[in-house]
Amino acid sequence: MAVEQTQKKTFHLDGNYAPVTAEVTAEELPVRGALPPELSGLYLRNGPNPRDAASEHWFFGDGMLHGIDISRGKARWYRNRWVRTRSFLEGAQVFSPTGDVDRTAGPANTHVIGHAGKIFALVESSYPVEVTRELDTVGPCDFDGKLRTGMTAHPKTCPRTGELHFFGYGFMPPYLVYHVLDASGRLVKSEEITVGGPTMIHDFAITDRHVTFLDLPVCFDLEKAMQGTMPYRWSDDYPARVGVMPRAGGDADVRWFEVEPCYVFHPMNAYDDEHEGTCRVVVDTARYESLWRDTTNRFEPAKLHRWVFDLDAGTVRETPLDDRTIEFPRVDERRTGARHRYGYAVANPGGGINQPATELVKYDLETGRSEAHEFGPGRVPSEGVFAPASIGSGEDEGWVMTYVYDQRENASDFVVLDAARLSAPPVATVRLPQRVPYGFHGSWIPR
Ligand SMILES: [Fe+2]
Repeated sequence: MAVEQTQKKTFHLDGNYAPVTAEVTAEELPVRGALPPELSGLYLRNGPNPRDAASEHWFFGDGMLHGIDISRGKARWYRNRWVRTRSFLEGAQVFSPTGDVDRTAGPANTHVIGHAGKIFALVESSYPVEVTRELDTVGPCDFDGKLRTGMTAHPKTCPRTGELHFFGYGFMPPYLVYHVLDASGRLVKSEEITVGGPTMIHDFAITDRHVTFLDLPVCFDLEKAMQGTMPYRWSDDYPARVGVMPRAGGDADVRWFEVEPCYVFHPMNAYDDEHEGTCRVVVDTARYESLWRDTTNRFEPAKLHRWVFDLDAGTVRETPLDDRTIEFPRVDERRTGARHRYGYAVANPGGGINQPATELVKYDLETGRSEAHEFGPGRVPSEGVFAPASIGSGEDEGWVMTYVYDQRENASDFVVLDAARLSAPPVATVRLPQRVPYGFHGSWIPR
C-alpha cells in the first residue's frame, strides 16, 4: 500500500494523498502509444477525497470517482466526481452519538463495481450508492428495503452464476451477515454468521462451492468510537479464525479454522482444490503480521501468503509465497472462485512501514515465478485492474490498467500494460488533466 507519513501531520492529507478541489471533465485526451481497440468501456477508481481538505483518518474522506471512458482506441473522456452522498451534501453521519445508525449516510469512498447493469460506489459501513456511467450520483440502494446491513466494499461476482456475494458487518449484533444478489440484482439470501465479537472485516473470498469469512483480531473499541476516531485496534486476546461455509449452507455449516494471528484487508482469490474425494480450500491473501497495535496511521508490510484449509482433516497449512511488500491483490475476475494461475498486486520489493509502491507485480502461482513492471523514478502505481482481451481469451491475455502518479511532475497518467508481458513498456499512456490522489479500488466496466 502506498503510504507516506510525517510525524506532525497524518500521511493521508500530505503529498498525493491530499484531495483535489476541482471536478474536471476533459474530452478526447491525447494517447501515447495505442489504446487496444478491443478495450471498450469505463475504468473507474474510487478513493477518499475529503471535501473540506481534512478528515480524521485516511478511510473517512468523502468518496471521489475518477473515470476514463475508452472506445475504439480513443480516450473519449476523463471525469472526476464526488459521490453525492448525504455525508457529502448534508454532513450526515452513519453513527450518531445517540447510537442511531443511518446506512444511507456513508462516504462511499472505497470501491466501485458494476452489477446487473448498475454501477455502485461502496463503503463498508453503508448501503451501496448508485452512480451513472457519467459519474452522477443516483442515490443509496437497499434493494427494495431488503438490505438491513452495510455492504462490504468487496463483493464478489461469481462468474459462473452471475450472483453477487457480499456481507455486511457491524459493531452491534448481528456482527456479520452474508448476502447474495442474484444476477438480476434481487437480494435472494441473507444469513447471519456467528463470530466471536465485533471485528473489522474488510473483505472475504468465495470459491465455486464455498464462502470464506475472516474473523481476525482487529477489534472494535467503543472508547475510540466515542472519540470519533478509527474505532478498531489490534488485540492479542482475540483468536484469529477463518470460516469456510458451503455456498448453499448456513451459519451452522461454517467450519472455523484457527490461524496464526494476522490481519488481511484483501484476499487475492480462493478456490476449491478437490481430488480423490477430498476437498481443500485455498485462499491467497496479502497478510499483515499485525495491524494497528498502537496507531491506525501505521501500515506494517503485507506479504503474499497462502492458506490451505483441509475440510476433511480440519487442518490449515500456512505458507508465505513472497518477501515483497504488496497490497491491492487482484486476479482476472473470470477466475473468481476458481483456481487462478496469475495474480497482480502493487509492490515495493524492499518496502517497510508506510512505504510507497514502486511497481506492479504479476505472480505466476503455477511456476512460482513473478514479473514486475517498474514505472520509473518517482512514479507510483495504484491498484492494477485486469481486463480480458475477449470473453474467451486466456487468463493473462488482456491488459492491466492503473493510474500512475508522477511525483516530479505532480501529475497522473492512466496506463495500460500488456498482462502477458507485464514488464514491457506500457501499451498506452494517457496524461490526465489533473493528478489522481492515491486511493483505493476500481473496476473495468465494459460497454
Ligand atoms: Fe479494500
